[in-house]
Amino acid sequence: MLKINDINVYYGVIHALKGVSLEINQGEIVTLIGANGAGKSTLLKTISGLLKPKTGEILFENEHVAGKVAQSIVKRGISHVPEGRRVFANMSVEENLELGAYLRKDKKGIKEDFEKVYQLFPRLLERKKQLSGTLSGGEQQMLAMGRALMARPRLLILDEPSMGLAPLLVKTIFRIIEEINQSGTTILLVEQNANMALSIADRAYVIETGKIVASGTSAELSQSDQIRNAYLGGH
Ligand SMILES: Nc1ncnc2c1ncn2[C@@H]1O[C@H](COP(=O)(O)OP(=O)(O)O)[C@@H](O)[C@H]1O
Ligand SMILES: [Mg+2]
Repeated sequence: MLKINDINVYYGVIHALKGVSLEINQGEIVTLIGANGAGKSTLLKTISGLLKPKTGEILFENEHVAGKVAQSIVKRGISHVPEGRRVFANMSVEENLELGAYLRKDKKGIKEDFEKVYQLFPRLLERKKQLSGTLSGGEQQMLAMGRALMARPRLLILDEPSMGLAPLLVKTIFRIIEEINQSGTTILLVEQNANMALSIADRAYVIETGKIVASGTSAELSQSDQIRNAYLGGH
């Protein structure tokens, strides 16, 4: 579904992604693990068109998308839930969700997706008229995910969805990610909580200072001593 070949991304003179290659098959949950500053968000932003690689290719469903504007990437079927959620605080829950569908014209499909999102996140239905800025952190994360789903993506990219959430809510968010995947959406997940990410992912990549240093099935990586010591708390 997604194939990244040897991309190099820079912020001015900072070489943030160094020859990164990665693949995602349709239907998978793939997780990207790495320390702070390793380049995870940079990679996600490059896939969704917010950053442009200097060299290398990105193919989505066999089309070249590297460097295309973000809006055209959303249209092709990739939605990105950014780090730190970024909901529109002065708009209601419902209005934020509507914005997620702004590139679509299929009224019937949009209505169906509203229902799906409210089914997935009953909390959002209860609060649909509430201003988003007054939601809790967990509810804002749900809203950011719901808004991304309103574009009806085939690939959903999540940047640290559990950041700052209470443990019980983290569990809920992970369960919902699995549910979204089971309903047919492919997922690329970045998480500080590598143990939980590996527990739901099919495969994983490990990134260190802009380079992919390991990849494999979640089971393979969970069994590697090196990965366990570096990212999984050593147990
Ligand atoms: N806007 C920016 N300008 C300059 N450097 C940046 C910018 N954003 C990120 N970086 C640098 O790029 C590297 C990768 O950052 P990032 O992708 O945010 O890492 P991660 O998401 O893995 O924590 C870091 O060294 C970071 O300081
Ligand atoms: Mg990040």
